[in-house]
Amino acid sequence: MCGSHPHSPFRQPMSKKTSFPKEDIRVLLLEGVSQTAVETFKAAGYTQIEFHDKSLPEDELKKRIADAHIVGIRSRTQLTADVLAQARRAIAVGCFCIGTNQVDLDAAELAGIPVFNAPYSNTRSVAELVIAEAIMLLRGIPQKNAQCHVGGWSKSAAGSHEARGKTLGIIGYGHIGTQVGVLAEGIGMNVVFHDIETKLSLGNARPAAGLRELLERSDVVTLHVPETPATKNMFGTAEIAAMKRGAHLINASRGSVVDIDALAAALRSGHLGGAAIDVFPVEPKGNAESFESPLRGFGNVILTPHVGGSTLEAQDNIGVEVAAKLVRYSDNGSTLSAVNFPEVTLPGHEGSRRILHIHRNVPGVLSRVNDAFREQGINIDGQYLRTDPKVGYVVIDVTATEAQTSQLRDALAAIDGTLRTRVLY
Ligand code: NAI
Repeated sequence: MCGSHPHSPFRQPMSKKTSFPKEDIRVLLLEGVSQTAVETFKAAGYTQIEFHDKSLPEDELKKRIADAHIVGIRSRTQLTADVLAQARRAIAVGCFCIGTNQVDLDAAELAGIPVFNAPYSNTRSVAELVIAEAIMLLRGIPQKNAQCHVGGWSKSAAGSHEARGKTLGIIGYGHIGTQVGVLAEGIGMNVVFHDIETKLSLGNARPAAGLRELLERSDVVTLHVPETPATKNMFGTAEIAAMKRGAHLINASRGSVVDIDALAAALRSGHLGGAAIDVFPVEPKGNAESFESPLRGFGNVILTPHVGGSTLEAQDNIGVEVAAKLVRYSDNGSTLSAVNFPEVTLPGHEGSRRILHIHRNVPGVLSRVNDAFREQGINIDGQYLRTDPKVGYVVIDVTATEAQTSQLRDALAAIDGTLRTRVLY
């Protein structure tokens, strides 16, 4: 081990001790993740960074991943159980995006590999779009724009309103909903919200007495709920009918939340003044596929191809957020916000050696871990344990010599059920 190096990696159970410096940790970044990710790794002292603009064909991926300690992907790279089986050295995977469906999360967990993502890096991007759409809808701009494009000219104030003094109803007052509320107040809107959880109001926003009251009061209603069984089609004929006549609906949450046929009917009847929809029950799989929707053709509807969170700034934020989580795990062992792993938030471990032990959550492993410490006569400075149904993650800070730590590590790696063992110096 290199005593001067602050860090040494991981290994599979039973292998010989191989501690090596941070400079030897290989980071494989695919699919052109933002350069902010590269900068974050470099700033943290990681120098071996292999960067690919595109995803790799599966054979190539298996070859490259076999050497990588940290793997960064976006949504195209499929990390199946088969591919992950080749990732023998990997300690962590970062999805530089929101979704993690492209990774077999169970297989990763059972390989002792936490997976991180960036669920909130594009919050601001969505919020800005929603505010812009609220203003556009209140002014009747979508239909005016459509008319001008075909040679029309209806210069009139009829049906055009300022946003100032109007009421915005936010359904789902989470990361995005709260940001929308703050921005809306900035332009003088009154903000009411509805959430299934009790939420702290930001600014002058007020919780509505219930969904119904929100719908009856709002000039613009915007949805920011997650996709859950309870939100599937939560916005249908009854909810739309409860909205004020001429009010507007914005949905940049999930396509399953709004009954699109009910919305189309309300637009056709004139009950709603307009809508802005970014997400759909069925979306094209790629840019080459045609977009089909009952909402096509309405002049007073803004349709966007699920780009609420798609900005270059959001990509840059994602680069920093995910790389920082990977660095933190690699340097410190913290798994906070891992999507498939027991979450442990750890303090620094100056003066101690930190041993990470990831094991199958089966009876007896922990007592054998403690036995190993007892047998080595090593003093424990701190111990942290989190489990989920599949995996246990125990972190132990010790004051021990290098030789003792090495022996301990071998003893831990030999315990039946061990998935990974790492020592951080
Ligand atoms: P979040 O989890 O921070 O907030 C969601 C809020 O909705 C929570 O406060 C929750 O308590 C509340 N909620 C859950 N069920 C509810 C119900 N039945 N009725 C009322 N409130 C309910 O999520 P975040 O980050 O604000 O995202 C919101 C939505 O935006 C998600 O569906 C997400 O997938 C979507 N999104 C869309 C993007 C786009 O490109 N259009 C980009 C980013 C997120």
